[in-house]
Amino acid sequence: NLGHSAAIHGFLGCLSADIPSGLIQTPATPSYSALLLSTARNLRYILPDTSKPVGIIAAAEHAHVQTTVRCGRRHGVRVRVRSGGHDYEGLSYASVHLHNEPFAVLDLAALRAIHVDPARAEAWAESGATVGELYYAVGAASRSLGFPAGSCPTMGIGGHLSGGGFGSLARKYGLSADNVLDALVVDADGRLMNRSSMGEELFWAICGGGGESFGVVLSWKVRLVPVPETVTVLSITRSRSQGAVELITKWQEVAPVLPQEVYLRVLVLNQQANFQAMFLGRCGGLHRLMQYRFPELGMTEQDCEEVSWVQSTVFFGFSTTSMPPEQLLNRSSNPSYYLKAKSDHVQDPIARDVWESIWAGWLDKPEAALLMLDPYGGLMSSISPSETPFPHRRGNLYQIQYYSFWYDNGTAAAEKRMSWVRGLYNEMEPYVSSNPRAVYVNYRDLDLGTNELDGNVTSYHKATVWGHKYFKGNFKRLAAVKTMVDPHDFFRNEQSIPPLPRCQ
Ligand code: FDA
Repeated sequence: NLGHSAAIHGFLGCLSADIPSGLIQTPATPSYSALLLSTARNLRYILPDTSKPVGIIAAAEHAHVQTTVRCGRRHGVRVRVRSGGHDYEGLSYASVHLHNEPFAVLDLAALRAIHVDPARAEAWAESGATVGELYYAVGAASRSLGFPAGSCPTMGIGGHLSGGGFGSLARKYGLSADNVLDALVVDADGRLMNRSSMGEELFWAICGGGGESFGVVLSWKVRLVPVPETVTVLSITRSRSQGAVELITKWQEVAPVLPQEVYLRVLVLNQQANFQAMFLGRCGGLHRLMQYRFPELGMTEQDCEEVSWVQSTVFFGFSTTSMPPEQLLNRSSNPSYYLKAKSDHVQDPIARDVWESIWAGWLDKPEAALLMLDPYGGLMSSISPSETPFPHRRGNLYQIQYYSFWYDNGTAAAEKRMSWVRGLYNEMEPYVSSNPRAVYVNYRDLDLGTNELDGNVTSYHKATVWGHKYFKGNFKRLAAVKTMVDPHDFFRNEQSIPPLPRCQ
């Protein structure tokens, strides 16, 4: 395509005026593949038939981001932003369905400074830092401060905070996005703005409205939260013959209404249910609480361990407390695998016989995925659904994830795994949220629908199909922000927020 070649040529020439050539990789340069793969978490999106970026810009300064956006706009090359590369559908480094538009990847991995101010209980973190690096820096600065975010330490701050950020402190302090105080953003005109210059609507949209749509977030100022110097983690595993089905059935009624200081999740893998908890207190306190509220679990004091908060993040990241916190600094995402995940919200407890048939019919199969049940309640229920774009608050008991990962690159293996995930998702329909069947945007799922163009911008009408599932009533407000800050729809991908239709 001659038009594309001219655009790419112009774009690369434009970049080279301001960005050192060593920071720009193209398919013709030797480090291109290594850089593309460096944080590509989902191997499904680096297969030969996935379209690849025309260039990867490893930004080392904020000005490089501004130049990339301006050059992309001028020459018609779109920019996909990548912080940690953990997008479930590879949208930060691959284009799957989108109109064969040439695109470049703006890789922020080198923009990863973190400054913790323990006296003010605040921190600035650049988007290319990982969640693990932020946890480590907070833990190194103070034993009595923490930050609410998810369990995987290699996730990028940029994508994670853009979509919400759910983890073991959510019931006490909400999502990461609920604890953002300020941010630096480069908009579609290449301007650099902070909270006061971007205005409250754009600030609202970037704190949970999903990555990519509104601009490039360079860094985030976050509120750190008080945690005890000693917290407790718990791990108990039960097989089906040890009553796992009954325990999960009971868990649904217990976990969402436990005191906010307790987070008790369930992971089901290899026909075993693993109950993992964090308690903002001592082991004895958790033991007494469990004896009273969930005696069936049979917890003993030997099942728990008292650790610092930062060590609890090691526990959730690696399922062990025996690794040092320095492990949180390991940015390597390896081993990468092929991944397909879907998710649901549960609003009424699912009956025991349904769990029994799910276990027998699905979880016992060799291709079964990891099932993750994450409780809501606590502070999550007191935050209004429009406070941030993340709408899944009061009325939700818990989230389910069907998370399948595999290492075999054959198509037969992929089809088997993916049809398992899709099959169970279909089967769960009667038991989970409906109208819409709600989904958390950080658990990106392209099965929900992908964007189409209406003229030269993304169709609002088509996008509502997936948009209401992620954002419910907040979707239209997100589209209104998009109309205000990026009316030409420069920042777009398969599930980016569209501008409002012109006639509205
Ligand atoms: P990535 O770089 O792929 O970006 C994701 C999206 O945001 C892309 O569309 C990208 O273009 C955009 N984006 C990235 N940086 C941006 C920036 N600076 N400005 C604007 N847009 C930007 N979630 C959770 O809440 N709790 C959890 O415990 C987990 N656990 C978990 C484990 C594993 C193994 C994976 C793979 C994922 C999770 N997640 C999760 C989901 C995770 O929160 C989600 O994938 C995040 O978007 C990842 O952020 P990255 O920066 O790594 O992704």
